[in-house]
This record gives sequence, structure tokens and C-alpha cells, in this order.
Amino acid sequence: MEVIICPSAERANLLTAQLIADTIQAKPNAVLGMATGRTPEGAYARLAQLHKEADLDFSGVTTFNLDEYIGIPATHPQSFRACMERDLFSKINIKRENTHLPDGMAPDLTAECARYEEAITAAGGIDVQLLGIGLNGHLAFNEPLSSLASRTRAKALTPETRRQNAPAFGSLDEVPTRAITMGIGTVLESRWAILLATGSNKAEMILKAVEGPMTAVVTASALQMHRRCTVIVDEPAAEWLQMTEYYRWVFANEPEWAPYRDLVLGSSR
Ligand code: PGA
Repeated sequence: MEVIICPSAERANLLTAQLIADTIQAKPNAVLGMATGRTPEGAYARLAQLHKEADLDFSGVTTFNLDEYIGIPATHPQSFRACMERDLFSKINIKRENTHLPDGMAPDLTAECARYEEAITAAGGIDVQLLGIGLNGHLAFNEPLSSLASRTRAKALTPETRRQNAPAFGSLDEVPTRAITMGIGTVLESRWAILLATGSNKAEMILKAVEGPMTAVVTASALQMHRRCTVIVDEPAAEWLQMTEYYRWVFANEPEWAPYRDLVLGSSR
């Protein structure tokens, strides 16, 4: 795991978008794992801008989203399909047939989950998986006590998660109670995982996921087993971390990060 502490949420979003853009430049038919929620919105806005102003080409890109609610149609404004359409897909030149989300209206959910896993495998696996973290430490909708070896399946959402997502729905009663989510095992197979977290309300779970013991109580801590995981945080989300001096040193000195130092640290250096 590597942790990059950015001076602001805006810089964290810019860095996240740039890492994804550079992945696409290096591999025009890249397979991207996408996340929804409030966290990635800024990074998606930047990717849309890079498409518009710098001709970032998504025509060969394939996407797989982490999860989708069960029981609301794709046309529902809060379905993750609709969120992706609004925030990103409608603003870039991606082919819709290359964008994948689980179907939360599928009559046979078990078959749908198996189909989703097979589609990821058939696409060659995920090159870079963008992730957020829930206020209970969840990764995608892998709620506490999810198996750290889990695959795509239906999960019941915790009351805390439903409360976290209620503002978008207007009321708690409107928030679906279940979702299809990639499993932790599925996420761990991605070739690169980028966990983006901004804001002080994420500080406790970032501490637990990054420096705490690996535990199914905080499913994001399973990223400690990921072969290549980059955690991008702003200062408030990094506030509880203990080893920040080391993380800052690595970002400031390791050659791998040289192309990104100005973008992240800019005039704050
Ligand atoms: P958020 O959700 O980006 O809206 O904070 C993240 C998550 O619950 O995984």
C-alpha cells in the first residue's frame, strides 16, 4: 500500500483523474473499475474535462462498476447506472455497450452475479479499480463481516449505509435495502486499486483500513492484501494516520511519483 496525502480534496481528485487518464493513454483498451457515491464526482468531472479539452479518448475503454442497488430500475435517478450516466458516461465518448453494472432488477440474482464475474474475466480483468470507503469501512457494498474472499453477490445494507445514502433519495424509506456488489475477492484481483477518500468524516476508517489490523469488520482493510494499492487522501482524511511522515517522504522522493508531484504539491511545496 502507498498513501498519497494531498493538500486539498481538489488535488486528490486531480491526481486520481490523472492516474486513470495515464492508464488510458498507456492502454487505450483499458478496463476500468468504477465507483459511485459523492467521493469520485470530482475525479469524474476532471476526466470529462480531459476528454473535452485534451482529447482523452474513451472509445476503447471498458468499465465495470462495483455495485448496484437491488429493486430499482436503471432509469431511477439514484440507480448507480443513472449516476454514472450523469457524472461521466454522458460527458465522454465511451461506448455504452462497454459500460457494465450489475442488473439489480435481474429475476435471478445469483445468475446475474455469476454473469457479472464472468464478464469481468472475459474482459481480461480490471486494470485499475477506483474505490471509495464507507463510514463503516465498507469497500463497495461489502458491509462489515463480509468474507474477505467474497465474490459478486447480493448483500443486505446496514442501517448506517442506508442513512449515509439517504440524502440522495430524499428519505431513508426510499433507500433500497439490498445491493449487488463485487466481492472483496473480486476487488483484490484488480491489477491496481486506487482508494480515494476526502473529508474528516473518513479519517477514522482510513486509519483502520490502512494502519489497523486486517479485519472483516472493516472490509477496506483487506486492501492490505492487494498487490498494488494506492490510497489518495486529503489532509482531513489523513488526520488520524500515524505514519504520515513516511508517506510524504515516499511521495516526495520515489521516482514513480515524480510526474505527479507538481500536480499534487504545486505551490504548497
Ligand atoms: P461516498 O460513499 O463517496 O458517498 O462517501 C463511499 C462509500 O460508501 O463507499
